[in-house]
Amino acid sequence: MNLIIVKDYQELSQAAADLVAREIIAKPDTVLCLPTGETPIGMYRELIQKYQRGEIDFSEAVAFSLDEYCSLSPEHPQSYYYYMQHTFFRHINIKAENIYLLNGITQDIVAECENYDKQILENGGIDLQILGIGNNGHLGFNEPAISLNSKTHLVNLSDDTIHANSRFFKNIEEVPTKALTVGMGAIMKATKIMLLASGEKKTAAINKTINGLISTRSPSTFLQLHPDVTIIIDKDAASKL
Ligand code: PGA
Repeated sequence: MNLIIVKDYQELSQAAADLVAREIIAKPDTVLCLPTGETPIGMYRELIQKYQRGEIDFSEAVAFSLDEYCSLSPEHPQSYYYYMQHTFFRHINIKAENIYLLNGITQDIVAECENYDKQILENGGIDLQILGIGNNGHLGFNEPAISLNSKTHLVNLSDDTIHANSRFFKNIEEVPTKALTVGMGAIMKATKIMLLASGEKKTAAINKTINGLISTRSPSTFLQLHPDVTIIIDKDAASKL
């Protein structure tokens, strides 16, 4: 694992955007799998600025989103469809046909998940997987459990996650309790993985990711088995290392 500790959130966002830019410049048709949440917002902002300065061209890039709530329509401001479109895609020149987002309100969850995995495969797999991390060590919505699912699948969100994500909703009752997530298989098969974490609340999860025993109870520990992982964290998230 390549661990990069930076001063603060701004430096983290810049370092993450620089890594993405290097990948896209080296391989313009890079297949990205992208997270939502608070952590990557600064990275998306930096990437948009690089695009506006003419430093990156996303016209050949392909993007999958990592997960999606069930029960929220794409127009819901807390849906990850809405987040990805508004935070990133509508500000860059990625082609609409190269954007893949999970439909959390599908009538046929099995077909939706199977189709998503098929689309990842048809695009040659993920070149660069970008991840945040839950306080509980989840990746995407692969929650701590007695077993992990390698494929895109439906998840019952853990109480920890529902509680953590309630900060984006009016109250905890509004937080969806189910979600779809890309599974550990596609994540672990990505050519390169970049994990981002900021703030003291992530320090225990980051410590486990790097130093913990590999366990399904802590999904991020599986990254220890991947040959090309870069972890970029700020000083606060590194405080327990
Ligand atoms: P955050 O979420 O970036 O909002 O902290 C990360 C996650 O839960 O995976």
